[in-house]
Amino acid sequence: MHHTYASLKSIAAYIPPHCVSNTDFEKIIDTSDEWITERTGIKTRYFADASQTTSDLAYEAGKVAIQRAGLTPQDIDIVIVSTLSGDYLSMPSTACLTSFKLGIENKPAFDISAACSGFIYLLGLAKSFIESKTYKNILIIGAERISSILDFTDRNTCVLFGDGAGACVIGATNDPKEAILEVDICANGRYENLLYTPRQCTTFPQLTPKPPKRESVVHMEGKEIFKLAVKTLTQNVNEILAKHQLSAQDVNFFVPHQANLRIINAVGKQLNFTPEQIVLTVQKYSNTSAASIPMAINDIYENSRLKYGDLMLLDAFGGGLTWGSALVRFALKN
Ligand code: COA
Repeated sequence: MHHTYASLKSIAAYIPPHCVSNTDFEKIIDTSDEWITERTGIKTRYFADASQTTSDLAYEAGKVAIQRAGLTPQDIDIVIVSTLSGDYLSMPSTACLTSFKLGIENKPAFDISAACSGFIYLLGLAKSFIESKTYKNILIIGAERISSILDFTDRNTCVLFGDGAGACVIGATNDPKEAILEVDICANGRYENLLYTPRQCTTFPQLTPKPPKRESVVHMEGKEIFKLAVKTLTQNVNEILAKHQLSAQDVNFFVPHQANLRIINAVGKQLNFTPEQIVLTVQKYSNTSAASIPMAINDIYENSRLKYGDLMLLDAFGGGLTWGSALVRFALKN
């Protein structure tokens, strides 16, 4: 009997049309290209057009991911999207809308909420669905239109994030050289107040005459997040490598969540990854939350750096707090 492994069959991304530079921010807030570059590494980010919703971005990435896997939308058994900036406040899910735009109807579709760790959570879900033989072809998408929930008067947050989408098809294989070897995910709600998006809450008038007014935009304690991110990301990598008796040298690419160049460099240095191993897209795309890791994988794929069978170590950290890591072989034959 062959063992059934989950496998990353394709990768694709969508980069929205509006490139916004640090100098563009100098015109609206008290900041400078120098400050943003020095503290974060970010030079540009891409924002969706006013007419585009998150499911539009997810559709573009999903369409290409299906094509690259050699499939048609009718072959897809389920669509799962991770987003913190969905089309609607709570329903319908962005996955429902994305499925319909792709021409997929009467198949399951739902969203998950795990902020910047969303793609690792999606991989974990898809892996279980494949190994349990529940579904054959799963479309997972990290998609964000974070520009719709940013406070463009808050210089502490608005320069850090960008829009985008990244997608892949997860299928089955019997070949361990094409397998998703491991997905580890974790969370701790103790850190609720470090990174959050409040929602306006209505209350029956007679219970609370004046409900507190809180804006539905991203709030962040940058310094605390920075320290926890470096610590957690480093720990994730050490644990997942040890579990598989691997060292940093055995990995072709280290693909961390792209939040801040200083975080990535600090983690990369502690773990002895070489600059060639560390995938960096934060300078051009900024932090695209759940889309950041698949967009980074797509970047090395489209630049012909990523090859069939390559071993990637993915590592993410985000609001919740949530975190996770994965060891994934690239299974798309170029
Ligand atoms: N332009 C200019 N100055 C800015 C600024 C901006 N865009 N944003 C903040 N500042 C100012 C602050 O007002 C503060 O000024 P003050 O000291 O007069 O109050 C100062 O810069 C903050 O400096 P410091 O706290 O030393 O910054 P930092 O080195 O911690 O960098 C971040 C700030 C936000 C870039 C950094 O903490 C960070 O990236 N944290 C992690 C955030 C993240 O990745 N979140 C997502 C996780 S998924």
